[in-house]
Amino acid sequence: MKTIIEPFRIKSVEPIFLTSRSEREQLLQDAHFNPFLLRAKDVTIDLLTDSGTGAMSSNQWAAIMRGDESYAGSESFYRFESVIRNLTAMPFILPVHQGRAAEKILFSIIGGPGKYVLSNTLFDTTRANIEVSGATGVDLLCPEGKQPSLIAPFKGNMDEAALENFINDKGAGNISMVIMTVTNNSGGGQPVSMANIRNVKKICSGYGIPFFIDACRFAENCYFIKTREPGFQDRSILEIAQELFSYADGCTMSAKKDAFANIGGFMAMHNKALADECRNVLIITEGFPTYGGLAGRDLEAIATGLEEIVQEDYLAYRIRSIAYLGEQLDKEGIPYLKPTGGHALYLDAKAFLPHIPVDKYPAQALCCQLYIEGGVRGVEIGSVMFGKYDPDGKLIPAANELVRLAFPRRMYTQSHLDYVAEVIVQLYHSRSRITGLIITEETPYLRHFTAKFKPDTTKILQDDLQHIAL
Ligand code: F0G
Repeated sequence: MKTIIEPFRIKSVEPIFLTSRSEREQLLQDAHFNPFLLRAKDVTIDLLTDSGTGAMSSNQWAAIMRGDESYAGSESFYRFESVIRNLTAMPFILPVHQGRAAEKILFSIIGGPGKYVLSNTLFDTTRANIEVSGATGVDLLCPEGKQPSLIAPFKGNMDEAALENFINDKGAGNISMVIMTVTNNSGGGQPVSMANIRNVKKICSGYGIPFFIDACRFAENCYFIKTREPGFQDRSILEIAQELFSYADGCTMSAKKDAFANIGGFMAMHNKALADECRNVLIITEGFPTYGGLAGRDLEAIATGLEEIVQEDYLAYRIRSIAYLGEQLDKEGIPYLKPTGGHALYLDAKAFLPHIPVDKYPAQALCCQLYIEGGVRGVEIGSVMFGKYDPDGKLIPAANELVRLAFPRRMYTQSHLDYVAEVIVQLYHSRSRITGLIITEETPYLRHFTAKFKPDTTKILQDDLQHIAL
């Protein structure tokens, strides 16, 4: 059969409230042109994130009822621990309330001024936690990963030569850790090959540098390995994941992604001394080590979710549905980061809106227009999220200006995606009308969450003047 169906049926539904275009214009203005500040009920299709937004299975809900809420020694913790140990073979497993809590604990211990943390591409919270500790985060993405329209199987790989050069240049003693993000979220949800993980681990071992995995989307990455990397076709996703984790000294994970949970996360590692230090901080900031800021029922939902995520029919449907949206856009030549990623499609705003300069934030402008056009909410992954200022206050732009359309797991059907494609196509046909944005308020860290914007009226004025001159 050609059609890959959603391998589940729907037992419980939530309404979507529809809005008119003029209502959305007002709502976006009230949200200061930052879709993060919209109320979720005013969004028709919410592709802001795949984090904590997925639909849980009937088995997860059943497991929730078994949650053991004991403060210490909860049975739910032991189940959570055994599922993660089966996956990672790591002896020390600490629950946390979400991924960034693991990052905060880890980098407050191993970071600090003068230190470097290297990655294929750090996610924004990971980078922020590194920088807050005083350390510097460095992305060493492979050259293919930097070309949005290039089709290559593993665009999330780390540049191995650049890694060795960096270590030799700064000295191995100054590198706290190498952390590989699988899949590479900020780099387009692109996978990392097993060969690259093996080689990076080898380089790290040679210099005595710990190698960790940011494992938020490990199962999606393993599906790409199975389908794209020679030698893995006949192995189960679980076996591939076990090999992937076998190269790591430790990992952090947000269970809000590839564990189908609405909240939660963990950190796991081999090194006892590091685990002891992490546990000390965990007790102060998250909670006792058998719950780490979570309820027993959350631990159960995560354990069941981790068992479900490695099912191949689910992953085939998941990866296919994102590729399907890409195919709809290909028919119109709409630019997006290729190939489609494991959890999201990333529109290339630089190519979509070539008339908007980077300091007028084309990806934020595109994000706003998607909302106005059809109530679709995506997220800017460009110079609002990753831009910096030079000492003169001039923007140092991000490498790419992308709008990420992230798919919550098991949430939307094919007709929802057809609708999203229609909205994008319609917008593409009227793209020359879209103007840039100017920031009116921002914070020093993670400004994209709360920044406020206003439309850049200079272009509108120029157009008006041109009109008058005619
Ligand atoms: N690492 C990666 C690769 C992530 O994508 C995220 C979260 C985190 C760490 C932090 O985890 O949210 O549980 O604290 N990404 C979400 C997103 C927020 O929308 O991509 P968290």
